[in-house]
Amino acid sequence: MPRPILATIHTQALRHNLGLARASAPDAKVWAVVKADAYGHGIARAFAGLRGADGFALLDLNEAQKVRDLGWRGPILLLEGAFELRDLELCSRLDLWHTVHCEAQIDMLAAHKTNVPQRVFLKMNTGMNRLGFTPERYRSAWTRLNALPQVDEISLTTHFSDADGAKGIAAQMTAFLAATQDLPGERSVCNSAAALRHADAVALSDWIRPGIAVYGSSPDYPTHSAAHWGLQPTMTLAAKIIAVQAVSAGASVGYGSSFVADFDMHIGVVACGYADGYPRICPTGTPVMVDGVRTRTVGRVSMDMITVDLGPVPLAGAGSEVTLWGSARNGAVLSIDEVAVCAQTVGYELMCGLAPRVPVEVQA
Ligand SMILES: Cc1ncc(COP(=O)(O)O)c(C=O)c1O
Repeated sequence: MPRPILATIHTQALRHNLGLARASAPDAKVWAVVKADAYGHGIARAFAGLRGADGFALLDLNEAQKVRDLGWRGPILLLEGAFELRDLELCSRLDLWHTVHCEAQIDMLAAHKTNVPQRVFLKMNTGMNRLGFTPERYRSAWTRLNALPQVDEISLTTHFSDADGAKGIAAQMTAFLAATQDLPGERSVCNSAAALRHADAVALSDWIRPGIAVYGSSPDYPTHSAAHWGLQPTMTLAAKIIAVQAVSAGASVGYGSSFVADFDMHIGVVACGYADGYPRICPTGTPVMVDGVRTRTVGRVSMDMITVDLGPVPLAGAGSEVTLWGSARNGAVLSIDEVAVCAQTVGYELMCGLAPRVPVEVQA
């Protein structure tokens, strides 16, 4: 029998969340962001749930190839553009649209031999200070691109650093609007947080670029939960109890004896550990569901096992279902965001960190 652990990708939830993203910006087209192998879900596994998007945004050429191999004939956008000149040959061959964020990428385009001009997204650095031309240098970059026979339509894009938080997007919006006001071309500015929280950014958008919301995690947790936004979990990580220990008051559990029982209790040993992608840093008290009932982890996460308090589920035993995040069979949901906070991280990292040894099933 295989080790009792399984990740499930929920096609219907992907479809539902994509629909919510679309509803947040009804006049815009939607890029489903599928970088990092669809945020750890697997592009091929997520594809059925996301094929209602208007395009796929990603950054790895291999992933672009995967999307074409799945039969997608529509737009694909490279969010970081070309890394070297020969990438542009693949852009021509696979008909990829690509971001241009620096002069070197314009040089590559100028050197690219093609009869079919390429669609580009010219990126402005409005304050994130990762990629893009400053507002001052944006127009000259646009003019240079516009003069190239290798370039077809130029779209205008930027990325917000604080769409999920108190700082907001006002300063970045102002910079973007001022530098682009008389330039032609479609605009793309919204990640998930901007699409859900900022009507001014939505109003400007011809294309939105939601990632995390599509995968059922709240872009602004803990301010708002996934349930608040109506988002459904798209990945469930579940395992089973493989042993039960009766632990007396005063006895400890696991490495380092970090948990000591205050009273007699039953502990379930679960077939999931940090080698499966469950963060070792999760402390005692991290929420978990047993048979769809919320309880907590106790003691340290080890490589292949965690230990959980069976107090709230006295009937549970070997073989009982344990939901680390996602949906239980009884329909109860444990949001990945709640677990991520206990791990001092975000849902993005947990999804992306699902370990290769975990078998994955797609639920239609
Ligand atoms: C350029 C760009 N657009 C859109 C996204 C999607 O962001 P989110 O997953 O927060 O919706 C990302 C993700 O980091 C990104 O880098």
